[in-house]
Amino acid sequence: VDIYSGSATPELAQAVASCLGRPLGRRELHRFADGECHVQIQESVRGRDIYIVQSTCHPVNEHLMELLVMIDAFRRASAARVTAIIPYYGYARQEKKTTGREPITAKLVANLLSTAGADRVVSVDLHSPAIQGFFDIGMDHLTAIPLLGEYLRQHMDLSDAVVVTPDTGRVKVADVYANMLNIPLVVMHKRRGGNHAQDVEVRAIVGEVANKRPIIVDDIISTGGTIVTCTQALLEAGAKPDITVVATHAVLTPPAEERLCMPEITRVVTTDTIPLGNKTLGGKVVVISVA
Ligand code: R5P
Repeated sequence: VDIYSGSATPELAQAVASCLGRPLGRRELHRFADGECHVQIQESVRGRDIYIVQSTCHPVNEHLMELLVMIDAFRRASAARVTAIIPYYGYARQEKKTTGREPITAKLVANLLSTAGADRVVSVDLHSPAIQGFFDIGMDHLTAIPLLGEYLRQHMDLSDAVVVTPDTGRVKVADVYANMLNIPLVVMHKRRGGNHAQDVEVRAIVGEVANKRPIIVDDIISTGGTIVTCTQALLEAGAKPDITVVATHAVLTPPAEERLCMPEITRVVTTDTIPLGNKTLGGKVVVISVA
């Protein structure tokens, strides 16, 4: 087994390699003046079982193309098997058409990975579990929920806590948290404005939130619009101003950092599927490794 890293998630790749007591494979990534990427694998991989760790996070197109180029290089170097470990699978949120004349990018990316020569793909908390079925090659859909739930169980007083899902579409996932923590589930119904809008509107809250401490669970925090709107709706409904946000993938595109700074959000628990860099969210972010 040989583990290689793309440029998106080098720390996570290193952590995975360390867990397995193996060094990361040597490769050189570079960009030509026009932006094309190039990889040179610096050791023989003939007949080897290759694992490439690369989230397709921001900048998504760059990281996706780099991953495809790496897979191609391993294939042409006669690797026996190439597995793409994509902790955060970009383009997953376009997994179905919501209106006419739209793409289904989650399927397009699955096709690209197979065409490039991946034998198997591994990902974590896909935006929709149905994406697993978009692959004709092996696809392992892992989840960080046990890790995140365990953190909450060990570090929070859950006596007056409730799990909140901001989206009726994610009730099943939220229910896993609620069962794990043995606390009630609250369901919010959100609606987005048109035209890829970041504007989110809460239409209904089903469940008791007055004098409760909400734990909002989601797969992704992107612009923070969903979280901040839910937080406001929960506070208006009488929830305590001590709100925990849990999401596997911290995409955190602007103005997420600014939004999550609101004092009523007291902690944000996420994973390292996407590097946070210097985004500390005022010291209230906790990162659990999925390595
Ligand atoms: C949407 O269906 C996802 O589960 C997340 O709720 C969404 O992607 C978060 O995006 P934002 O932070 O921009 O509201």
